[in-house]
Amino acid sequence: MPKRIRRPSSIVVAALAVLIASQIVTSAAAAQSILDPVSPTAASLKRLYQIVFVLGVTVFLLVEGLILYTAVRFRRRDGDGEPKQVHGSAKAEVAWTIAPAVVVLGLAAASYGPLLEQRAAPADALVVDVTGKQWFWEFAYPEAGVITANELVVPVGRAVRLRLASADVIHSFWAPQLGGKMDAIPGERQGGHGRNEMWFRAEREGEYWGQCAELCGVQHAGMRFVVRAVPELEFTAWLAAQAAPAVEPAPGSLEAAGRDAIAGLACVGCHVIDGVEGMVGRVGPDLTHVGSRRHLAGAVFENTPENLARWIDRPAEMKPGANMPALGLTPEQVEAITAYLLSLQ
Ligand code: CUA
Repeated sequence: MPKRIRRPSSIVVAALAVLIASQIVTSAAAAQSILDPVSPTAASLKRLYQIVFVLGVTVFLLVEGLILYTAVRFRRRDGDGEPKQVHGSAKAEVAWTIAPAVVVLGLAAASYGPLLEQRAAPADALVVDVTGKQWFWEFAYPEAGVITANELVVPVGRAVRLRLASADVIHSFWAPQLGGKMDAIPGERQGGHGRNEMWFRAEREGEYWGQCAELCGVQHAGMRFVVRAVPELEFTAWLAAQAAPAVEPAPGSLEAAGRDAIAGLACVGCHVIDGVEGMVGRVGPDLTHVGSRRHLAGAVFENTPENLARWIDRPAEMKPGANMPALGLTPEQVEAITAYLLSLQ
């Protein structure tokens, strides 16, 4: 008689169950969770997720239960002869074809509404053009003529309509607490943003992290962003400040030296600073108000003087693969440029 296959010990099964349960609990508490929605669009996705989850668990328990039952109830016993041979059962086959089809059609029906909802922005929504670039997110407010990066500032309680595009490869915009994933597709820039759209309405103040959800190169993981939902008045003030040209440094100051340095370097080919002549590059982030941002380099680093200086000096050390080159700057240049950029509030 062949040796019996050992069943997995109950300890292993229990350990797995605890692991899975703890994952569910911790992910609910973490920042980027679909289980803690703050937008109606995300809330309907959470409801859909719960339907799918309950259905999945039900099917799992039913199937596994039947397997266990038959394995125990009909196991081979000593003295058993040849079992009764059966060849097909029309009833069983029809049943196991129709039942899954009903489940799948039901899921499709339940998904349809929430999917349409993700794109159906209210008419009075604030429009933001979102561009994925290797490797950061650019946010433009076309009505105000403002372009920023890494941080999407929005008024709390107001619908925001995002028109997505990409400057290079396919990226995917995803802030789990605010809604589903939506691809940012290259080529849309030529025809204007708008083929891929989504919207959200942040119902409470706060910071909601998101990240690129489509493999887009070596720094795919370094393509994060934060949505900051602030009171309407604070938003209006922020937008007005961002729409102003860059502050003019005092003559003879370190900041002025920094501005003069930057205007004579290759920086001008990739960055815009509104007010500095010749800085018209659209490849990297618009730096007109870079000092007002809390994050750098695809929101991977905080915008501190140390981080900014290091980023200007040795970008590849902080973000391997980043498209910003090291320019071989002198320590004096790094110091002056850092001071100037931080002054751009
Ligand atoms: Cu952009 Cu991944």
